[in-house]
Amino acid sequence: MSLGKIIDKKNNDLSKRIDKQKVPEHIAIIMDGNGRWATRKGFPRSFGHKQGVNVLKKILKASKKLGCKILTVYAFSTENWSRPTKEVDFLINLFTEVLKNEIKEIHEESTKIKFIGDLTPFPKNLKEIISSSESLTKNNTKFLFNVCVNYGGRQEIVKVAKELALKSSAGEIKPSEINEELFNSELLLGGIKDPELLIRTSGEKRISNFLLWQLAYSEIYISEVLWPEFNEHEFLKAIIDYQSRNRRFGGIESLPNESFEDSQYSS
Ligand code: IPE
Ligand code: IPE
Ligand code: MG
Repeated sequence: MSLGKIIDKKNNDLSKRIDKQKVPEHIAIIMDGNGRWATRKGFPRSFGHKQGVNVLKKILKASKKLGCKILTVYAFSTENWSRPTKEVDFLINLFTEVLKNEIKEIHEESTKIKFIGDLTPFPKNLKEIISSSESLTKNNTKFLFNVCVNYGGRQEIVKVAKELALKSSAGEIKPSEINEELFNSELLLGGIKDPELLIRTSGEKRISNFLLWQLAYSEIYISEVLWPEFNEHEFLKAIIDYQSRNRRFGGIESLPNESFEDSQYSS
């Protein structure tokens, strides 16, 4: 039996365990571990980033197949500029090339692509391809694919605070009108549904300045697998784990035939 068949069989088994009614509508992913994967194999870190792109293409397909509607991925953080210039340049070129090669298929699949983050420091050719890709796909409705580049959650929150302060001092809004809904609508993701599930690969247990506002009540799944080795099987494992969670949002699990007054603590 070929390896392909084994993987397929495993996926079939796992996909039977997925409750189609409880698939997260919005999944966010911190794609981590590219460098370590390459280094362990004796390759330059850039090889890990290239392989990471292939994995992303597969996970984008898998998300659509599953019935998920929005995928938001962390591709480059505001902190990633602190890496060696050679690595940063490589990543910028990779984003440009991948987008050029993939945009046709993304559009044909009726996927809307959006780049989330401060694009100002990027070179002109990347900014141009981002802008043409976003306008080409802006009316697509089947799937929303958000790519966070030069993105930082704190910077995003400060940006919204500044915009609202400006609107307020210009008399366009009253400070008393500032509430969660208004704040959320000004965020770069534009008030879409918060991710129900955050996946981080490579075993790191931190958020690294990703979607600080939007992840307030997301379920977090940490995969030990490095991103270049992540696959549909690992992805389905994350969804199954998510579906076993009890999302309480600060409330309590409702227990049949028991009320608060009945409990041992009532006087
Ligand atoms: C994630 O992989 C990709 C980016 C941050 C661009 P890393 O490059 O962080 O890989 P590790 O964590 O060093 O292995
Ligand atoms: C988070 O990964 C950013 C992206 C995946 C783009 P990092 O590798 O930059 O995060 P830290 O440094 O481990 O927190
Ligand atoms: Mg990393």
